[in-house]
Amino acid sequence: MRFNSKTIHGGQEPDKAYGAVMPPIYQTSTYAQTTPGGHKGYEYSRSGNPTRAALERSLASIENGKHGLAFASGLAAIDAVVKLLTPGDEVVSTNDLYGGSYRLFRQVFEKYGIKFHFVGMQDTSVIEEYINDNTKLLWVETPTNPMMNVIDIAAAADLAKKHDLLLAVDNTFATPYLQRPLDLGADIVMHSATKYLGGHSDVVVGALVVNDDSLAEKLYFLQNASGGVCGPMDSFLVLRGIKTLHVRMQRHCENCRAIAEFLKSHPKIGKVFWPGFADHPNHAVAKKQMADFGGMLSFIPKEGGYEEAVRVVEKLRVFTLAESLGGVESLAGHPASMTHASIPKEEREKSGVVDSLIRLSVGIEDAEDLIADLNQSLS
Ligand SMILES: Cc1ncc(COP(=O)(O)O)c(C=O)c1O
Repeated sequence: MRFNSKTIHGGQEPDKAYGAVMPPIYQTSTYAQTTPGGHKGYEYSRSGNPTRAALERSLASIENGKHGLAFASGLAAIDAVVKLLTPGDEVVSTNDLYGGSYRLFRQVFEKYGIKFHFVGMQDTSVIEEYINDNTKLLWVETPTNPMMNVIDIAAAADLAKKHDLLLAVDNTFATPYLQRPLDLGADIVMHSATKYLGGHSDVVVGALVVNDDSLAEKLYFLQNASGGVCGPMDSFLVLRGIKTLHVRMQRHCENCRAIAEFLKSHPKIGKVFWPGFADHPNHAVAKKQMADFGGMLSFIPKEGGYEEAVRVVEKLRVFTLAESLGGVESLAGHPASMTHASIPKEEREKSGVVDSLIRLSVGIEDAEDLIADLNQSLS
C-alpha cells in the first residue's frame, strides 16, 4: 500500500468480535483467564491492550517499520530510548531541540552517569568530532524545534553505521508524510503523537517505531517494566487522527508556505526560518529528504526585541497563543518563555532561540484569514 492508504488501513482489520471497523476502546485493565496462562493474548493492560496494539500496528505501518510502541507521552518514549544506555555511555544530540527533551537529558539522565553533547548537527563533521569510544546514541531532531534547521538523516545514518551507534530521529515536526527516517537508515523513529499524528490537540501520546527485532524486544521490555504506556482512549484518538494525517499535512504545508512568503516580504519582519526558502542554509537537504517543508516556521520582528514579540503574540486573534503544535488550529508560541524556557538563556541563545523569536504552528484554516490575522497583529 502507498502512504495515503496506509494511514487508513495500515495494520488494521475489522474487530474480531463484531466486525467493528474502528477498534473498540478496550477500557479494561485485565483479561479473564480460563486456567493460569490461558488467555487470548492479553493479560494486563500495561503489558498489552488491543486498542493500543491497533495503534502500534498503524504507527509501524506509516513509518515503514516492523514494530510500533505507544507511550503515555513523547517524553515517555524518549525516556525508554535513553534507558537502553548504561552509566558511562555518551549521546550526541541536536543543540536546538525541544526543551523538554533537553531537560530530560540534562536534569534526569545526567544524574545516572549518561553524558550528552548538544551540537549543531547540520554539519555532519561536527557530529563526528564528538564521537568517542563511549558514544552509543545519536539523537537527531529534524527539522529542529524551533529554529527549523534540517539535519541530513542519511548522512547521520552513515556515521552511526561507521561507529556502530544507534541513530534515533524525532520525527514529530515532519511526520512520515514528509520523511521516513527508517528508510533513510535510522534505527529508531520517535514521535510526540500529541502533535500531527493525533492532529486535534486533544491527547498526549508518544511513539517509537523500529525494524530490528532485538531492539524492539528491549524497548518492549522497558515499556512494560517502566510502565509509561498510553491508555485505550488515547490510543483510539491517535488512531483516528492518523487516518487523516496525509490530508491535514498537505494543507499544513500549503498554508505554511503562504505565511512564510507573506512574512518574508513584510517590512516589520527581520528574519523568517522556514526550510522551503531557497536561501535557507539546509534547503538542499530538506528538498532531498522531505516531500514538502512542513507546517512549522519561526520568525523575528525587525525591531522591539522581547516586548515586540510579546505584543505580537498577544494581539493575534485566529492564532491561539499556546504551547504545542501540529493540531488543526493555528498556534503561536514564544519559545524563550514557553516551550524552551527549561533551557538556560545562554545555552538557548547559542542556537538562535532569542527573546524576540516567535514560533508558528500553521493550522488548516483558510490561509487568507491567517495572513490577515498576522497582518493586524504586526500593525
Ligand atoms: C519535537 C518534540 N519532541 C518531543 C516532544 C515531547 O512530547 P510530549 O509533549 O508528547 O511528551 C515535543 C513536545 O512538544 C516536541 O515538540
